[in-house]
Amino acid sequence: MWWKVLFLLFGVAGIIADVSARIDEQMPPWMDSVDDDYYNSLSYLSYFSDGISYRLPNTTVPISYDIWISTDIHRGEFGFDGEVTVRFECIETTPELILQYRAMTIDTVALFDENNSLIEEDVSWYQNETVEFLIITPSQQLIQGQEYLVNVKYNGSIRDDGLGIYSASYITPEGERRWLASTQFQATDARRAFPCYDEPLYRTRFNISIRHHSNYTALSNMNAVEVVPEPESDYVLTKFAETLKIQSYLVAFTVSDFISTDNLTAVPPQRVFGKSASIRNGEGEMALETSIRQMKIMEEYFGIDYRFPKMDHFACPNFSFVGMENSGLVLYDELFLLWDPVSDRTSDRDNVITLIAHELIHQWFGNLVSPVFWNYLWINEGFAALYEFYIPHMMYPEARYMDFFIIKYMHVALKNDGNLNIRAMTHYVENPDQIEALADGVAYDKAGSVLHMMQNALGHETWRRGLQYFLNARQDNYTNSAFLYAGIQLAVSEDIKNNTPDVHAIMSTWELQAGVPIVTVSRSGDVLNLQQTRFFYSNQSRASLWQIPINYVVRSNPNFNETTPDLWFAGKELEIRNGTAPKPWMPNDWIVVNVQQSGYYRVNYDTELWSLLIEQLNSPEYHLIHLLNRGQLIDDSFNIARSGRITPDIPLDVMNYLERETDHIPWDSAQRALFLYNRWLLGTPVYDEFQDYVLKNVAAMYNKLGVNVIENEPRLDRYARQIAINLACLHGSAQCLDDTAEQLENFFNLQKTLHPDVVAQIYCNGIRRSGADVVEKMQNLLLKAKRQIERDRIIAGLGCIEDPDILYEHLLMAIQPGELSSAERSNVLTLPLDNGIASLRALMNFIRSNYGGINLVSADLVSTLCSNIAIRISTKEMYDTFVKLLSHLKINGAISASKETKLQPYAKGILNWQEKHMEHVVLFFEKKTNVREPFSN
Ligand SMILES: *[C@@H]1O[C@H](CO)[C@@H](O)[C@H](O)[C@H]1NC(C)=O
Ligand SMILES: *[C@@H]1O[C@H](CO)[C@@H](O)[C@H](O)[C@H]1NC(C)=O
Ligand SMILES: *[C@@H]1O[C@H](CO)[C@@H](O)[C@H](O)[C@H]1NC(C)=O
Ligand SMILES: *[C@@H]1O[C@H](CO)[C@@H](O)[C@H](O)[C@H]1NC(C)=O
Ligand SMILES: *[C@@H]1O[C@H](CO)[C@@H](O)[C@H](O)[C@H]1NC(C)=O
Ligand SMILES: *[C@@H]1O[C@H](CO)[C@@H](O)[C@H](O)[C@H]1NC(C)=O
Repeated sequence: MWWKVLFLLFGVAGIIADVSARIDEQMPPWMDSVDDDYYNSLSYLSYFSDGISYRLPNTTVPISYDIWISTDIHRGEFGFDGEVTVRFECIETTPELILQYRAMTIDTVALFDENNSLIEEDVSWYQNETVEFLIITPSQQLIQGQEYLVNVKYNGSIRDDGLGIYSASYITPEGERRWLASTQFQATDARRAFPCYDEPLYRTRFNISIRHHSNYTALSNMNAVEVVPEPESDYVLTKFAETLKIQSYLVAFTVSDFISTDNLTAVPPQRVFGKSASIRNGEGEMALETSIRQMKIMEEYFGIDYRFPKMDHFACPNFSFVGMENSGLVLYDELFLLWDPVSDRTSDRDNVITLIAHELIHQWFGNLVSPVFWNYLWINEGFAALYEFYIPHMMYPEARYMDFFIIKYMHVALKNDGNLNIRAMTHYVENPDQIEALADGVAYDKAGSVLHMMQNALGHETWRRGLQYFLNARQDNYTNSAFLYAGIQLAVSEDIKNNTPDVHAIMSTWELQAGVPIVTVSRSGDVLNLQQTRFFYSNQSRASLWQIPINYVVRSNPNFNETTPDLWFAGKELEIRNGTAPKPWMPNDWIVVNVQQSGYYRVNYDTELWSLLIEQLNSPEYHLIHLLNRGQLIDDSFNIARSGRITPDIPLDVMNYLERETDHIPWDSAQRALFLYNRWLLGTPVYDEFQDYVLKNVAAMYNKLGVNVIENEPRLDRYARQIAINLACLHGSAQCLDDTAEQLENFFNLQKTLHPDVVAQIYCNGIRRSGADVVEKMQNLLLKAKRQIERDRIIAGLGCIEDPDILYEHLLMAIQPGELSSAERSNVLTLPLDNGIASLRALMNFIRSNYGGINLVSADLVSTLCSNIAIRISTKEMYDTFVKLLSHLKINGAISASKETKLQPYAKGILNWQEKHMEHVVLFFEKKTNVREPFSN
């Protein structure tokens, strides 16, 4: 499954990629420990058990299900009727049969023997809502070794929140609203659709029939075998073939008027379903071709064929997740499956390619082999995360998808894992809400990164054969981590005869311990000293040790090609002597540890080693250091500085080499760092110098890429260009402001179309210094725009207006009558937040005078805006204005007193940071000294 919340926060450039820089950094920058609000905001629930057992007893096991569902969704009706018959075997004599259910009304329960003869017609039952058990108590005990059938008639509702059976609708080109029904069962919502054994351990055959209007088509995991018209009515019953054994969370069906584009000669046959207008427009073709190619690659790679007789992809409008890997019927949000070459971006195409790979990988990891329970969700999602880039990399080796993996997953995982309260990969909980919360950055980003490390440390071919052993041994069965390690170990023991790595011992240190290690490297003459400890953003410490594959490169032998380890580092400290070192060094050599950043750990250096690295980077020979390591040096130095272990001038020194860098990968790390430096320095006496620093560094990339998209240029240049335009214009490059304003003018006046890959950048930066007339044109464009993605882009663009008076006028759009949705209205207000100090002031003025109207847009919006402003207060004068604003809002009842009390210290955050660290930043910009604080660990 791919969660939207994760996608938006961490994922590959998604629908909000254009504004991602604005919302990417939600972690308060100054915090000594990353505070609880951050994790609450990611809907992390408590990691700790509530002490209640929610697990099914092991007294009975299911053998098969017959499910019948009747829906009137074509009329927009949200009730459904259901009937389920479960054949089960009694393993241990028991007075009761327990099934899981949620939010449904049970009508009748009947019990039959294995030959379908009635035992009891009206069996009594009761429900326990807390644990969601339907407890069926026949008048006689169920006897060990016997099979039974239980039949339950019930009804439930089709929901609008995307859980269980849910509804969606869309408007046809003729302006008619059409309804459809679809399902989303992972992790514990199958029990909303039918009472069942709703745990991943149980793999069962399902026979599904759906009664629906004859104008609609029903789809499910298997092919329809029969569509039976109902006499004297407009209804039909679509009956599906019996599934292979699957887990309840992988059952799926849809009822819609969608059409498909098919390739029925492919093996398996594949189809892509969507709204007829989209499919006729060819928007499903890319997905269809991609999926057929990827399926082939995966079957060969794993040596096991996909088992289901077909593969359907279904593009749902407003799907609440990004994608869901149901066997044979994968569901997607349509924005992530359909692709229109004319109006969609490179990033949209990348989303389709990586998302399909993600969901197809699950057909092996998750579907063919399933976790014994949700504590091993990371096995599903970690492999899906890694291979969602690895498979595209196999398809298009030159497109550098694995480089993308490093910045999109590894860097995000490293950041999350600096949190004090982060969980370990394997984490056992039973409460359904806590189970949902396990689908977090640890299960996806971190697990993917750790698996990527092992793949590189053990060798790609050994790794792959290990996975084949594992899949072969566990197919059609459950797994835990030990089975996985055993499979990999087989291949490792065959291939690595000396010092054979112990996969279980190594992996346990990553699987069972929370957090990420930081390796500190210092050198004194002929001795290189390594130390490991857990990385925190605060000065906490925990006694954790990992088995870390260490590999390194020295200047006199700068070969970055090998990612296999030079040694495994398992203790607290390790000394390497030059005489016996795997790679000896010369006295003035720099050393880069963690080649191509293939290992999941951060690296810190002593002052001299940092200086040598900075010197190399800031030379024409900067490229002697591998570009993934250039990105690593930026990401590590910046985050290590945030943790207080090194001073904030070191990352500024590292990034000073960017004047020669035009590759996207290091720039992606840099833009995140510069985004926060910008926030911390805004309005301070060094701000002008900071702007010059950014402009000096971005100039080469901007000059190389410009504002015009070039046909057939490398894919990553498309992304790099977006960074170049945004940084250059934000920091006041006259060239950039002219270029973008001209493009926008030509767009409005000469109807020159803008390439989808730069539309957002042109809208935003072209409007920065434009007059009220251009703003009005943009607003009119918004009022006419139909596609949500285009509307969002325009609103984001308008957020870049720099003139405070024009901006103020524009903000009125948020509270005046008109056709904006409330989400759009709040975007009008939040998007100017990172647009400089004048915009922040205009926004504060606006809130002061219009709090009433703002809170009408959505309750507590004023309060949310204030929280967002609080973490952007970077001068004493802004702080005073903000405190007055809070008090004014409290007196007038627009925010609560407790909110005011909470936000005041928040708003001091950057000022406190400045007090501690500004000195080093000032010195850096004044270039007064090269002397740094003594290195501290
Ligand atoms: C049922 O068996 C499974 C698999 O052996 C086990 O993981 C689970 O804890 C058992 N459930 C209970 C309630 O004992
Ligand atoms: C429901 O089950 C839980 C856990 O076994 C138990 O603590 C609770 O008392 C039960 N509630 C009812 C109403 O029986
Ligand atoms: C079913 O389709 C027919 C033919 O297109 C149409 O006339 C009829 O109105 C549709 N019925 C419903 C309930 O949508
Ligand atoms: C369908 O897929 C097969 C197998 O990849 C391919 O050879 C064929 O060209 C495809 N057909 C169409 C119409 O795209
Ligand atoms: C599933 O795995 C368990 C443990 O290895 C084994 O005992 C059982 O026979 C397997 N079940 C099937 C259906 O292969
Ligand atoms: C490293 O790999 C690159 C690309 O495959 C190759 O061009 C280069 O010669 C290799 N370098 C060394 C030192 O082997």
